[in-house]
Amino acid sequence: MAQYSRVRGSVALLRLTNPPVNALSAAVSRDLERAVRSACADSAVRVLVLRGHGGTFCGGADIRELAGLVDVPFRVGVSSLVALVDAVEAAEKPVVAAIEGVALGGGLELALGCHFRIAHGQARLGLPEVTLGLLPAAGGTQRLPRLVGFPAALELVATGRDVSAEEALALGLVDHVTDGDVEEAAVEFARRVADEPLASRRLSTRPPPRPADLDTLLQVALERAQRRARGALAPVACVQAVRAAATLPFTQGLQLEQELMAALLPSNQARAMQYCFFAQRIVGKWSLPGGANWRNSPARAVSRAAVIGLGTMGRGIAVSLVRAGIPVVAMETDEKQLRVVTAMLEREAAKQRRSPDSYLQLVQFTLERRDLGDADLVVEAVFEDLALKKRLFAELSSSCRPDTLLCSNTSALDVDALAAATRRPELVVGMHFFAPAHVMKLLEVVCGARSSPVAVATAMQLGKRLGKVSVAVANCPGFAGNRMLKPYVEQASFLLEEGATPQQVDAVLEDFGFAMGVFRMSDLSGLDVGWRVREEAGLAGPTVPPGESARRRHGCRYSPLADLLCEHGRLGQKTGRGWYLYEGPGGRAATPDPWLHDFLDQYRRRHGLRPRRIDQQEVLERCLYALANEGFRILEEGVAAGPEDIDTIYVLGYGWPAHRGGPMYHVAAVGLPAVLSRLEHFRRLHPDVPQLRPSALLRHLVAEGSPPISRWRELLKGLRSQL
Ligand code: NAI
Repeated sequence: MAQYSRVRGSVALLRLTNPPVNALSAAVSRDLERAVRSACADSAVRVLVLRGHGGTFCGGADIRELAGLVDVPFRVGVSSLVALVDAVEAAEKPVVAAIEGVALGGGLELALGCHFRIAHGQARLGLPEVTLGLLPAAGGTQRLPRLVGFPAALELVATGRDVSAEEALALGLVDHVTDGDVEEAAVEFARRVADEPLASRRLSTRPPPRPADLDTLLQVALERAQRRARGALAPVACVQAVRAAATLPFTQGLQLEQELMAALLPSNQARAMQYCFFAQRIVGKWSLPGGANWRNSPARAVSRAAVIGLGTMGRGIAVSLVRAGIPVVAMETDEKQLRVVTAMLEREAAKQRRSPDSYLQLVQFTLERRDLGDADLVVEAVFEDLALKKRLFAELSSSCRPDTLLCSNTSALDVDALAAATRRPELVVGMHFFAPAHVMKLLEVVCGARSSPVAVATAMQLGKRLGKVSVAVANCPGFAGNRMLKPYVEQASFLLEEGATPQQVDAVLEDFGFAMGVFRMSDLSGLDVGWRVREEAGLAGPTVPPGESARRRHGCRYSPLADLLCEHGRLGQKTGRGWYLYEGPGGRAATPDPWLHDFLDQYRRRHGLRPRRIDQQEVLERCLYALANEGFRILEEGVAAGPEDIDTIYVLGYGWPAHRGGPMYHVAAVGLPAVLSRLEHFRRLHPDVPQLRPSALLRHLVAEGSPPISRWRELLKGLRSQL
């Protein structure tokens, strides 16, 4: 696990070996500590170099201990790691960390215990514990600010962001960066520092930097963390721990770090976030009804891609592809969109510290479809118009190479209908990105009835290459994410009819932890998007059958509120007014609009609706249970393979707070019998709202004694045909 081999005279080389990421399990930490001690005791050794096996330094503590997948409890792993880092730092001979691949979490804390750090140019360093609902608890919160100062340490610990070697050098986190062999560089460096005094290199004994405005800085950081955390405990605990490095001696700071960790570790939030972590890994293991799966279906290489339509979505997709080093042919009918993409690529290159040309040379802009012929894969992102997309797919099928994959970024349209318009339905899949596509981490891969395993594998793999989490779902209106959004938005609208206001509903959802309440979100995306979809579906506008009442469609309750706002020209932020009022068209700051409140009053009077007081619990339960209920239907129909898929989609694509695990995790945590009973209650009160009718799967799970969510995936395999 930790090999100690003497190399080249006085330099001892220690190699951490625990594939795949050299995780620091309790056993590995103890082993390495022994190796450090014996190297120090060896009189022929003057300096130690510590590196990881297989091209990576260390991915952190052993996450399997965290998940209870091994017998050793996680806290034992943490205390072994603390002892290891202390032993390394206390060593009487210099220890040089040779970092390549990653030094994350406990891996970076170990490196902070070393006296010197050398990094390979491609290495990434960070403390991502906060994303698991925890904090770095092997001294990371105390040593990091002593090395890089408080502003950087606060930001890195509280957000979990990792940094490149170049940024690490600028921050003072590493002493030297090499693009050559990291071990060679570290050995050479070690020889140079073999006789240097170590006192000032031991971070625990170094006084923390004290800028004049330190108190204000720490206070502002705490307030910001509280505001941004939206109820999450870990980011606030991270700031408290780093703050202790300024206010307490090292050992007391370390003790506070341990106490905060002890409070976070058993919390429901940490459990929810760890569930999200594992869920994001489970979803990569896709399978299709015919037996093809992630293991037996190799992806095809994509060495050249094309994007059609460079609007809101297409330009983000093009940037993602370029950033991943994939040459792109970008096609538009509107020339000015090409300029927007160029500017975006230049900004992105600057952000990644690359020359603009390194990105721009990967893009070929065109207004001609014939230039797409050579692409391995095409992503279509033109207007959401089925007839237009079908026409385009038919043309692509004749103009592209016969083996080119044809993908659509449609948000809800029928992928099978697009496939049927081509001569290669097996090479058609949905690649549903989320806005902004170069930022959002989610990709829904929509498998049509005829999509081939290679097409699915290639889309899933491409998503991963673009740095996204790909989730495979089956084809149905709205797929998984947008389909579940419909009952959620609908409930919110019904609540307005019954007496709530947009700001009341949004406040409850934002208190729950959503990045944005449903009405603010709808103002941001534009109310006209849904309006057009409803018009096409015969629910709004001139296509509604004559004689249909304003508040009913196909025998069910319908709220025309959003349609009425659109008819008044209130399309959201873009027009400066929607559910809220903004500073002007394109404004971002939402304020309650008296016009809207009068409008709601008049609407209720017109339809004989007596407004009532609606409490927080009702807002949450009606919105969230209706959404999760649709999730159960999606599972029973096999549109998604398991609750992990739905939860990943919601956390990464829809701003669902990770510390609440996702909608399916949330209802499991509340308790399925309680959720079922509330849905039955609401269903009795609103018999004309089918989305409140509890799904067969929810009933089944309750009848089976509510098995834990970790078992649903397996249960579903046997259940689907019976539900
Ligand atoms: P958009 O209106 O911003 O952009 C569409 C672009 O396609 C325009 O620049 C237009 O000039 C271009 N275009 C239209 N017909 C074309 C053709 N025949 N050849 C080449 N270019 C053509 O639309 P947006 O929002 O980017 O949506 C594109 C697709 O992505 C739609 O299917 C939409 O449902 C989907 N989508 C949108 C999301 C969003 O948040 N906006 C999120 C996820 C998916």
